[in-house]
Amino acid sequence: MNLYQAKKILKKAIPEYFYHLSVEPLIRDIITHILNINTIDYLLLPPKYELNNDEINKLFEIIKQLQNEKPLQYILGKAQFLNFELKINENVLIPRPETEELVKLVINNLEKQKYKPKTIVDIGTGTGCIALAMKYYYPYSRVIGIDISSEAIKLAKFNAIKYNLTIDFFQLDILNTDLSKFKFDVIISNPPYVLNIEKNEIKPNVKNWEPHDALFVFDEDPIIFYKKIINDFFKSPDARFAFFEINPICYNVITDFLSNYTQISYFFEKDFNNKTRYLAIDLLDK
Ligand SMILES: C[S@@+](CC[C@H](N)C(=O)[O-])C[C@H]1O[C@@H](n2cnc3c(N)ncnc32)[C@H](O)[C@@H]1O
Repeated sequence: MNLYQAKKILKKAIPEYFYHLSVEPLIRDIITHILNINTIDYLLLPPKYELNNDEINKLFEIIKQLQNEKPLQYILGKAQFLNFELKINENVLIPRPETEELVKLVINNLEKQKYKPKTIVDIGTGTGCIALAMKYYYPYSRVIGIDISSEAIKLAKFNAIKYNLTIDFFQLDILNTDLSKFKFDVIISNPPYVLNIEKNEIKPNVKNWEPHDALFVFDEDPIIFYKKIINDFFKSPDARFAFFEINPICYNVITDFLSNYTQISYFFEKDFNNKTRYLAIDLLDK
């Protein structure tokens, strides 16, 4: 089988939910992975390049996984987040473009206030994507990443080392830890926020492959993580800013919860799909 034929077979095998993306870069990512070459070498490869048996086997293995709706990031073991190519596996959530926007919201707000963070805590760090972006942007701040999953902590540590970023990672259940002990001034979180009642709307490539502990919360208390983090935030002596990614359908219940606190300034912001996706809290007047 030559490269031209391999590309043709792959094109047919790429499932429909990828069609909103251009198929060509996906094919490029798969072929460079199989042949273990970089993008320039891929571009220079003649269509008549003959794949060896090992490469053909790898190609069919990937096609099988794609047809099982396994996300490409898990197949290739890597995911892009801002300027980081992160190592990833099925134990952690695939970082989303919405979370890249959360990073933008954090930086824009801190810049607007000319605020230099001292200690930033990222709750539910997963691949470490938010923590890495923070340390990259604020090299003089201490950055801490926390996750309940030991596999997530392992990956996050690997990703931080890859980019030479010094971040302290802790495996902890934040529902049973007093976060104020970390003496942070900025706290950021993209916690699990999908309700079980939303499960039917979730595509199989997400529902069947991504870790449910990273995605779902119990319907009985959908903002359990926000309540715990915000309570600890108010207890923390140095706390100044909190930033969250939220489930748009929890906007009202979060607003109700925040009405328990006086003298805070907060706002919600929409994502690129015009859905209320972010919450920012500033304790300027604490
Ligand atoms: C929605 S994912 C976010 C991952 C990553 N920050 C991102 O934005 O891609 C939520 C993360 O919270 C972690 N998590 C769930 N329950 C937790 C708990 N009780 N304590 C600490 N982390 C928890 C999950 O393991 C998962 O990595």
